[in-house]
Amino acid sequence: MISKLSKYSTKEAIYYALNECRCQTLKLFEELDDTTFRSQYHADFSPVGWHLGHIAYTESLWLLEHSAGLRCLFPQYRKLFAADGLPKSERVKLPNLEEISYYLQTVRAKVLKYLEVADIERQERLWRFLIQHESQHCEILSYVLELAKSQQSTLRLTSTALSNQRSGQVVNSQQSKLVTFDSGVWTFDFAKQAEMVMIPAGEFEQGNNSIDALDNESLSYRVYLDTYWIDRYPVTCGQYRQFMTAGGYKNPQLWSEVGWQWLQTEQVTQPLYWHSDRSYDDHPVCGVSWYEAEAYSRFVGKRLPTEAEWEKAASWDAQAKRRRIYPWGEEMPTPEYCNCDRLIGQTTPVATYPAGKSAYGLFDTLGNVWEWTASWFAPYQGFQSYPYVGYSQVYFDNQHRVLKGGSWATRLWVLRSSFRNWYYPNVRQVFAGFRCAANSD
Ligand code: AVJ
Ligand code: FE
Repeated sequence: MISKLSKYSTKEAIYYALNECRCQTLKLFEELDDTTFRSQYHADFSPVGWHLGHIAYTESLWLLEHSAGLRCLFPQYRKLFAADGLPKSERVKLPNLEEISYYLQTVRAKVLKYLEVADIERQERLWRFLIQHESQHCEILSYVLELAKSQQSTLRLTSTALSNQRSGQVVNSQQSKLVTFDSGVWTFDFAKQAEMVMIPAGEFEQGNNSIDALDNESLSYRVYLDTYWIDRYPVTCGQYRQFMTAGGYKNPQLWSEVGWQWLQTEQVTQPLYWHSDRSYDDHPVCGVSWYEAEAYSRFVGKRLPTEAEWEKAASWDAQAKRRRIYPWGEEMPTPEYCNCDRLIGQTTPVATYPAGKSAYGLFDTLGNVWEWTASWFAPYQGFQSYPYVGYSQVYFDNQHRVLKGGSWATRLWVLRSSFRNWYYPNVRQVFAGFRCAANSD
């Protein structure tokens, strides 16, 4: 995206991006109370205030220490804010917002001074990495803010649930008219009737070798895929409700063994960010684990797409025989193309952005919700760690599944079809849904 600002020099473009990115970051803290700032809302996620300190720490480590050769500015923060410093549960003993803001500002002032003299041609990749690093932490911070919101409204929700019980309403009593369900699995006929797109057999280019690319996106390579089908839209809340009302959460036949085990432990009955309000029926389902995505796919006689299938359908222009950076082309994201950057602040109906369609006609591949894929997070041929082994390489453990596409909270700097996100399959806090795929016969 930064490269689009070609009338500017590289330095000017980086300067602009650093400022833009930071302004957005600070906006998230404008009306934040101190309790939300320092509370841990889930064992897998650090407090929002920690993310802010970690952004400053990482910028300081890579630009001031490693590149400019300065001494560590705030050694007292090293252990607290380093990625490998403290367990997440101990990241609650934080300085306050003013102190962390001072840390951020002090580091940033030195960084901008250094930018004036830095050899940007040689360091461009690092600077771009740091902008993307900050962007990603802000999205994680969005998940934590959402958790905070839901916990703050738990009291209200509990009392609604109680009064529903008393008036004798049963949540899952609604019989779906579109589908009937007898313990079996849907046949492929149903899959074909639903909105799917056929992707003809052939090669495409997966991955990304540009200067923005993170280590796990390169080297790009040619992949041949047989003909397959993929959903035109992400699975909606309305569609997912049919799975729920048909007893999807109670039917072991729809779940993998690991998935069923997970469900027995977690005892969930709906997605984390579920809306019982029917006006959300055409929004993508959001806040599901990989296991729920897998079970739903089986319910409709489909499966999850592999990462390659997802990326081909989202980025390949078969006519021009080349990959596009964005589904719609090379033009950077705007509010015409997709729901991202917290501009809307929540999900949107899946057919909202026809201008953002991919060459094959898929809607909503970028923005709105991340999409789980069937693939494990693994390196491409020729992978080289950058800028440190802990960024991607330590996660190549066949325990993390790849998510693609970005959510309504994803920043422009990390929104592209080749971008790879990864989480354990049990994670539900990410703004993630999915779309399904099927074989061609
Ligand atoms: C790509 C979101 C999985 O949270 O570990 C931030 C992003 N890496 N700092 C993560 C990341 C280092 C990463 N995810
Ligand atoms: Fe980080």
